[in-house]
Amino acid sequence: MAQENHYVIDSESGAEMARLIDQDYLMTRLTGGWFPPGVEIERGKILDLGCGPGGWALEVAHAYPEIELVGVDISNIMIAYAQTHAKLQQVQERVKFQTQLRALALQALHRSGLGFSFDGTNIGIVHMLYPLLQQSGGKTIEYAAYVLNMAYDAPFHQAGVKNGYIAYQLMSKLFVKLGLATAEEVQQLCEQFRADSYQPTFASTMIMTRAWGYKL
Ligand SMILES: C[S@@+](CC[C@H](N)C(=O)[O-])C[C@H]1O[C@@H](n2cnc3c(N)ncnc32)[C@H](O)[C@@H]1O
Repeated sequence: MAQENHYVIDSESGAEMARLIDQDYLMTRLTGGWFPPGVEIERGKILDLGCGPGGWALEVAHAYPEIELVGVDISNIMIAYAQTHAKLQQVQERVKFQTQLRALALQALHRSGLGFSFDGTNIGIVHMLYPLLQQSGGKTIEYAAYVLNMAYDAPFHQAGVKNGYIAYQLMSKLFVKLGLATAEEVQQLCEQFRADSYQPTFASTMIMTRAWGYKL
């Protein structure tokens, strides 16, 4: 659930996607191939974390017909591009590209004109609490910050996961309406999220801020 995007460039930018398409091609040629020296993979499954527009995964899929690949990225536009190319190149059965539920939710808010983020990679509300409370007459403004742990063995694991699962299900129609994902993709991501949450290594924290002001 809790994922922060610390990447320095706006991942939803078309210019960044175009740059990554070129960069991926260049890097594979400059480094002499798809895998580091000594790594020989002929079959099995590969997870490409931060796959961008998916060029590397698609090239590997064509070169190795017995390898299955899953590409994951925080950027919705790059995943949409990668999925389209997997279909066009007829490798969609072996190469799956998935966005992340949280990225969908943040983009949906952004595209609906909600939140304060310039690019939809966060909600941006925390920075705005101070001026908003001031504008509504707050003279003394105070904050409290919390880290809510919902890891596998935390007391609120089950309640937290259920809450997240339902929230994403309820946002499904909005994701579809905004063209961010199909209903089937959202459902699949929700089920994946639930399955992941039952792994003993599952880690999740939610960072929460409370802010309040006194008018006197
Ligand atoms: C330097 S690019 C590499 C793209 C691709 N692997 C390639 O070689 O062309 C880094 C990628 O990581 C993605 N990224 C950044 N933060 C991420 C996060 N928290 N979760 C998933 N992907 C993330 C960005 O959207 C971007 O596509």
